[in-house]
Amino acid sequence: MEPYSAVDVIRAKRDGTRLTDGQIDWVVDAYTRGAVAEEQMSALAMAIFLRGMDTVETARWTAAMVDSGETLALRTDRPTVDKHSTGGVGDKITLPLAPLVAACGAAVPQLSGRGLGHTGGTLDKLESIPGWRARLTTEEILAQLADVGAVICAATEGLAPADRKLYALRDVTGTVESIPLIASSIMSKKIAEGADSLVLDVKYGSGAFMKTVEDARALANALVGIGVSRGLRMSALITDMSVPLGRAVGNAVEVAESVDVLRGGGPADVVELTVALAREMLSLAGLSDVDPAAVLASGAAYETWARMIRAQGGDPEAALPEPAHVHVIPAPSSGVVSYLDAYAVGVAAWRLGAGRARKEDPVQAAAGILCHAKPGDVVRAGNPLLELRTDTPAAVPAALAALDGGYAIADTAPERAPLVLETIRG
Ligand code: URA
Repeated sequence: MEPYSAVDVIRAKRDGTRLTDGQIDWVVDAYTRGAVAEEQMSALAMAIFLRGMDTVETARWTAAMVDSGETLALRTDRPTVDKHSTGGVGDKITLPLAPLVAACGAAVPQLSGRGLGHTGGTLDKLESIPGWRARLTTEEILAQLADVGAVICAATEGLAPADRKLYALRDVTGTVESIPLIASSIMSKKIAEGADSLVLDVKYGSGAFMKTVEDARALANALVGIGVSRGLRMSALITDMSVPLGRAVGNAVEVAESVDVLRGGGPADVVELTVALAREMLSLAGLSDVDPAAVLASGAAYETWARMIRAQGGDPEAALPEPAHVHVIPAPSSGVVSYLDAYAVGVAAWRLGAGRARKEDPVQAAAGILCHAKPGDVVRAGNPLLELRTDTPAAVPAALAALDGGYAIADTAPERAPLVLETIRG
């Protein structure tokens, strides 16, 4: 006999009542074991979407999702610190950041996901490296963390299974865009991962989940609040995602750009954000005397990257896949690039084969876009502006349609918002 009735819980939230700890613990557990039906959880998710949950309810909902599965017991002498990004176009920062922070003395367990829609997935990018393996056992994760200090891999099945089930349901019931549901979803996985500290990169702008700074700030505050309530050291950077990050958007092209950064080069915005996040992570980890910019320049972060890739079966020196077809969009006139819309570039890369429409779809390792010029860059008419890369040339017209109106050339350079707008500390 169940202690609560799903219909009573749905009615309570539908009518705007706070859910009790007991109701929350029960409904999340009962849904995970199948005692609450999908249609009942759909109704409850919609009631939460419309009525919201306060900070106490959200923290309890998160805890119930953590308790639905296992928690990694990280065994390492180093302080453990992780980063989570809410996702963006060209956001490859995890790739240089995890080995950089490990090279600075912390341990970075980075359990990542795959791309869905116009934002890319870290695992899809890394899988363009010949031999690299995303799926590790819990023992392998712990061993690599102790040995190399950084691991980027797929989340194990046992972490927050309630979230996996609920996220799939939200995806098909129009209930994704709810701050309490997004915040509890993200934080349940991060808490289960077991790091002591977490830095969030909460993005706003056309290429982000949150289109406005206000929404990004509200999400950041909700995320930080949940983490702090569980005893994590937390910070959130609010960052601009109206323009793609770096010059590469896709899979192999983003790995190549990340390697450039690890070797001391790479685009200035990728370096700036990598170093800013690393500084924040090191500060939370009690290592603020280490300068990540100096470690990056020393080549030590590249060495950690190479060990991290090898530990997962990959060859860090192997050539990355090249596309079967390249289509170059030339600059339509001479002047300064005044606009390059992250969302348009993200959708175009996705249509070229870099991303997937359904969870089961494969991605093309070589697909993506190289931005030869970005806002502020001077171009001459006819010079390459964007390079579309794909194994399926039939995809090019759809990518071109996505880019229509997504870039502009003017006489003067555009005003740019700072990349890191503000930092919220828990
Ligand atoms: N990412 C997550 O993990 N969960 C959400 O609900 C949204 C983005």
